[in-house]
Amino acid sequence: MTANPHRLPEKGIPKDEVLAAMRTLRERDVKWQDGRLFSLIYYAGEEITDVLKEAALLFFSENGLNPSVFPSLRQMETEVVAISADLLGGDAQTVGNMTSGGTESILLAVKTAREWARVHRPDIREPEMVLPMTAHPAFEKAAHYFDVRPVRTAIGPDFRADVEAARAAITPRTILMVGSAPCYPFGVVDPIAEMAAIAQERGILFHVDACVGGFMLPFVRKLGYPVPDFDFRVPGVTSISADLHKYGYCVKGASVILYRDAALRRHQFFAYTDWPGGIYASPTMAGTRPSGPIAAAWAILHYLGEEGYLALAALVMDTVGKIRAGVEAIPGLRVLGEPHMSIMALASDTLNIYEVGDEMALRGWHLDRQQFPPTLHVTVMPVHAEVADAFLRDLAEAADAARRLTPAKVRDRLLVGLADTAARVLPQAWVSSLMARASALLGKSAGSAAGRSAAMYGMMGTLPNRGDLRELVLDVLDGLTRPQER
Ligand SMILES: Cc1ncc(COP(=O)(O)O)c(C=O)c1O
Repeated sequence: MTANPHRLPEKGIPKDEVLAAMRTLRERDVKWQDGRLFSLIYYAGEEITDVLKEAALLFFSENGLNPSVFPSLRQMETEVVAISADLLGGDAQTVGNMTSGGTESILLAVKTAREWARVHRPDIREPEMVLPMTAHPAFEKAAHYFDVRPVRTAIGPDFRADVEAARAAITPRTILMVGSAPCYPFGVVDPIAEMAAIAQERGILFHVDACVGGFMLPFVRKLGYPVPDFDFRVPGVTSISADLHKYGYCVKGASVILYRDAALRRHQFFAYTDWPGGIYASPTMAGTRPSGPIAAAWAILHYLGEEGYLALAALVMDTVGKIRAGVEAIPGLRVLGEPHMSIMALASDTLNIYEVGDEMALRGWHLDRQQFPPTLHVTVMPVHAEVADAFLRDLAEAADAARRLTPAKVRDRLLVGLADTAARVLPQAWVSSLMARASALLGKSAGSAAGRSAAMYGMMGTLPNRGDLRELVLDVLDGLTRPQER
């Protein structure tokens, strides 16, 4: 057995030293404050960050588990949910809860559907949900946790869910249909009205995943941009998830799950009445719940108000217009489909788009790689308004550099990206075995492991054996949470 190099320090370390060590750790992180990142952080500037910090600190120690002890939290959560419901076409019947994020909201929507079906459709032993291939992996996680079989359906040439494919996928076992507003990979809103009508006709539930759009689309529409109907105003929509910690600009750990009525939400709840510790009831997945995100959500909704959200949405949409036009002007690059708000996928018919991503990384820009088809992900946030010109200049250069690469050179770089990423985030001992397995998987030699990021994404996308790839990914996940040599 190898010794664990990490121990609780025998004596406490002074606060300044502890914090200094943390600041040093942070130096290698991506500089998101400078607009270099196009996912993960919805940064809207220091003024808003300060409001969030103060609000969260005010409720730093409270516990959201028991609302009867903290009526302040109960009131704030109720009001956050009610404001969200109002923004999303709900009425006095609409109910919901705050959760830790989009994934928890989606888990709850699926769990609720399963419980609902157990009561209303007891004949269904093996429930299924129908969801477009673009729906977030959180639904697969929910399927995995709650034993609801996911049935993935095709998207159309416009990257929106194919309504007829969804209709055809419904079986007597289907309990739930799903649509996204918008989907994360391509930023387009699914034909929610058509799909929800089918669900209503079949007497099944329909969930709208508005995690990324819930606090953006209402303002984008108000600014005059065309937004398809997607919320509770659409008959047949029975639940909606919307993340405050995305375009609500809240601190992370804040989302809402909303239901058309209280009878449906009741299936979400959990209660255990026979515990010696007392009667235990909990509405969501967590027991103890941090109250900082609840407080910060209440604060930011009131601090920004409609005017503030509209101003931020206008800034973002102006930047989107600039970036879309700039991308289309670069030979070989294009935006896929017609994104409905501020999320887009950059693609190319002539260049290796992952190489463009690598070239951008060399210039300090971090764009997530997507697959089926290969694209680079761009979520535009307020912070990008200031860097859009520099981004487009570098993107044109990156495309030029990618154009000069020959296919042979691209192939040679097959595993270099994996090695590079692995070397940065995994314990050293793991890297070589991971690389050996990856190269066996890809049927190529690992080659030199220096430098660039990821031509491997292209190959990963085409691997016929997704099971092996999954095992490899699970190994990476395991390695990520093992202690690293300092
Ligand atoms: C459309 C959509 N749904 C769900 C999620 C999951 O949200 P979270 O990461 O907060 O769990 C995301 C995250 O980006 C998303 O874009």
